[in-house]
Amino acid sequence: MSFPSTAQIAFAMDAQTSAFEADVLNGLAQPVKTLPSRWLYDDIGSALFEQITALPEYYPTRTETAILKEHAASLAAFCGQQSIIVEYGAGAIVKTGILLDALQEPSLYIPVDIAGDFLAQSIQQLRSSFQRLDILPIAADFTQHFPMPTELPEGLQRVGVFLGSTIGNLNKDEAVKFLNMARQHAQSRTGAFPGKALIGIDLVKSIDILLPAYDDAAGITAAFNLNLLTRINRELDGTFDLSGFRHEARWNETESAIEMHIVSETNQRVSVGRKEFTFAKGESIQTESSRKYTLEQFADIARRGGWEIAGSWTDRDHLFAVAGLVEAK
Ligand code: AVI
Repeated sequence: MSFPSTAQIAFAMDAQTSAFEADVLNGLAQPVKTLPSRWLYDDIGSALFEQITALPEYYPTRTETAILKEHAASLAAFCGQQSIIVEYGAGAIVKTGILLDALQEPSLYIPVDIAGDFLAQSIQQLRSSFQRLDILPIAADFTQHFPMPTELPEGLQRVGVFLGSTIGNLNKDEAVKFLNMARQHAQSRTGAFPGKALIGIDLVKSIDILLPAYDDAAGITAAFNLNLLTRINRELDGTFDLSGFRHEARWNETESAIEMHIVSETNQRVSVGRKEFTFAKGESIQTESSRKYTLEQFADIARRGGWEIAGSWTDRDHLFAVAGLVEAK
């Protein structure tokens, strides 16, 4: 099994900075300023997100964790014996641990994450708990198509795992594209097993629960959102004055999504490198959309990605669901 070298990781990081710059210059030049949410996750953003997952207002993580614990045996039966687990967006060690613990002799665990450093840390933690588990990390942006390594063992069940409701951060076309890629990754060349996937979905619910989850009293979500401006200042030579901007969470009924915005408190000009951008008072940069699905709506997206929902596991209050997908025939 081969691991990425330091040089390969350094190259990936440089490519990331260029992609970040392109997205920021393009996103801030649009009439409605928007930045892709994946850039929220530098080391500081990832650490703040970890804090968010433990907030009293943020129900998704603890609810999904409880679902995984309660239904561990049935989820393991769905995944099958000696399966290869490909986890997109690795880093939620507790949840991954529950699943890996329940699985019967998983053959290989493949965590995929854009944040190379965070991935390395997570793997270190996992290695100490699962000493006999083979781990093959892949530092990649899973919103873009990437191939599975060709040397993977054949004749084993492959299961794609995408927890945390991160699928909700993709728009519908991106979600379909992701599901198509995950289906290709889950196909074994011998065709011995149909591909499978487990996807965490945040379900549609009252905005009285949703809005505080994205605008907590302790201000951690605000710090997470505004850290994107700090990242632009640091990595792209930006001049954002953070005291002139504030965090806002909004419910978009048409999109069935909570949106995070960074709102300008005044009329102001900001540079990023040699480019200058103007902000009117009250104008915002949309930094994230977090879509909430019903299971029926998600089944439609899954179908477009070539999957069928074979089963689902949920909590008593129907806040969250883990959907079990099987490749459509
Ligand atoms: C990672 N993702 C599923 C989170 C969500 O709920 O959409 C990101 C997040 N943004 C603000 N709080 C949490």
